Amino acid sequence: MANVTVIGAQWGDEGKGKIVDWLSERADVVARFQGGHNAGHTLVVGDKVYKLSLLPSGIVRGTLSVIGNGVVLDPWHFRDEVAKLKGQGVEITPDNLQIAETCPLILPFHRDLDGLREDASGAGKIGTTRRGIGPAYEDKVGRRAIRVCDLAHLDDLGPQIDRLTAHHDALRAGFGEAPIDRAALIADLTDIAAFILPFVKPVWLTLNKAKSEGKRILFEGAQGTLLDIDHGTYPFVTSSNTVAGTAASGTGLGPSGAGFVLGITKAYTTRVGSGPFPSEQDNDIGQRLGERGHEFGTVTGRKRRCGWFDAVLVRQSVAVSGVTGIALTKLDVLDGFAELKICTGYRIGDRSFDYLPAHAQDQARAEPIYESIGGWSETTAGARSWADLPAQAIKYIRRIEELIGCPVTLVSTSPERDDTILVRDPFAD
Ligand code: IMP
Repeated sequence: MANVTVIGAQWGDEGKGKIVDWLSERADVVARFQGGHNAGHTLVVGDKVYKLSLLPSGIVRGTLSVIGNGVVLDPWHFRDEVAKLKGQGVEITPDNLQIAETCPLILPFHRDLDGLREDASGAGKIGTTRRGIGPAYEDKVGRRAIRVCDLAHLDDLGPQIDRLTAHHDALRAGFGEAPIDRAALIADLTDIAAFILPFVKPVWLTLNKAKSEGKRILFEGAQGTLLDIDHGTYPFVTSSNTVAGTAASGTGLGPSGAGFVLGITKAYTTRVGSGPFPSEQDNDIGQRLGERGHEFGTVTGRKRRCGWFDAVLVRQSVAVSGVTGIALTKLDVLDGFAELKICTGYRIGDRSFDYLPAHAQDQARAEPIYESIGGWSETTAGARSWADLPAQAIKYIRRIEELIGCPVTLVSTSPERDDTILVRDPFAD
């Protein structure tokens, strides 16, 4: 079966938008399976730039797009994003966009709580996107969430709202905040329900039907493996499982549906928000990577932290997500460096590691062990075949493959969709 699951193999922002857009043209269905509108996927199509946070990227090309149950959905943001894209000429109807009935809702007090906690945490803050993602997932696993299907039963929602608001009012009181205005919440939900409900479907059925008809499904991961709630740099992570396995649980298709797992990684490393980053270059090198790579967050506009490629972390991501092939992005940002470094291990005190240990303090103390490789002076921007690449750039890619134990099956050399070197077509497998 020719399905493809695209996931980030670093801390997010690996350039998934372009790759997903490129693949979505040949997919029959594109599905999001985790996260929410904390994601930021930029698509450049011709002379138009589309910025998506919540909607699957396939929507821009009219491909059937599905928001799976693993996503947390802010219904007001959904309405705004639909309006913004429609304003750019994208057609969005219940015929090409479906939302899972079981998606938990992100409500205004989730956003409040996210911000209140961040503000109260001082130097220990996570650096979240403040969009209420974490608090919404907490209510999901706490079995208190209001879900998309509840919007069709607002009259029966009283006891559920009581339970949810009682929980949040206690938390809010701790921050000196006023209780939730219950009547206003119900009025807002009633208002938004009319907009959301036409899109709501049992998407697990849609996907299983598509699978049985031999259709091509593209699963679009958000964030990256190192932000995974279980496998990432906890607690400096997002609140969902970002690994490829979530494509199954986050949509209801089952584990055999994931297909080819395409891990996206930049040719260097970036991270937004707080947390360990062993190969970070808080110096001229990081500055140069950030400027050349335009490293500012799509969602929050925050400057991204930049550093050398960390082969240890990507090797770990390849393992925990079962990555079949790597898409290497932003190679051109490394053009002109006389010397490049690759992190191949860590030293923590007098011990060395070939993986990132789990404990936050060990992660914070991990010192990178580097190997150096000569850079190249030519430009790789816009390369479309191996023959267009300088020999040193090919050597760099080959070394990365060796270190991470996974083949590079695609190289992206500019935001333009055609500036891509395709080694192996993931849909052809
Ligand atoms: P949250 O997902 O808003 O709770 O943020 C938790 C962590 O994940 C923070 O470090 C964010 O910067 C990071 N994060 C969330 N979404 C993205 C993304 O799409 N790209 C990169 N980092 C993200």
